[in-house]
Amino acid sequence: MDKDFTLDLTDEAATLALGNHLAGIMAPNLTIYLHGDLGAGKTTLVRGLLHGLGFVGRVKSPTYTIVEPYEITRGGDPPLNLYHFDLYRFNDEDEWESAGFRDYFNARSVCLIEWPEKAAHILPVPDIDIQLALSGSGRRVTISPHTAHAKKCLQKFNANLFKVTQ
Ligand SMILES: Nc1ncnc2c1ncn2[C@@H]1O[C@H](COP(=O)(O)OP(=O)(O)OP(=O)(O)O)[C@@H](O)[C@H]1O
Ligand SMILES: [Mg+2]
Repeated sequence: MDKDFTLDLTDEAATLALGNHLAGIMAPNLTIYLHGDLGAGKTTLVRGLLHGLGFVGRVKSPTYTIVEPYEITRGGDPPLNLYHFDLYRFNDEDEWESAGFRDYFNARSVCLIEWPEKAAHILPVPDIDIQLALSGSGRRVTISPHTAHAKKCLQKFNANLFKVTQ
């Protein structure tokens, strides 16, 4: 998949399954923006992704903490640092520097960012945009890879597992 693609997620289980599938094709050095209104399913997708990476604890929404860090150990690979941001309540740009958030974006990390619009001009540009929207009782998701690295990762995406919307 090197172009944008859209899938229908009929229920919460489908969002978790998408996260789980994305976990299998995830590589370090990715910045992923998660767009969508309140309740669109952004945190649910991250929860599926973390569980797909083998994380067994509770995945908390970082609405109040801004970021929740995870260290994922995968076989013989070096640990993967995954940072789950929720910038809905972010309003202090100085905090971005003082808290060292900039350093979280590095060659060993995957950063998933809910509400990137709230810090648009200080965030690194995304490798992938994921847009979630309500669609009937379910959700519709559009995945847009921008960089060569993201397109290479998403080549392994198996759209046959999901209902593809034209
Ligand atoms: N495909 C789906 N169909 C129906 N409901 C879904 C789907 N995916 C997730 N949900 C439900 O949507 C609700 C809100 O999900 P979630 O907390 O992930 O949203 P969010 O986008 O992170 O919201 P916020 O911006 O408030 O953080 C949850 O109750 C979840 O079960
Ligand atoms: Mg959320």
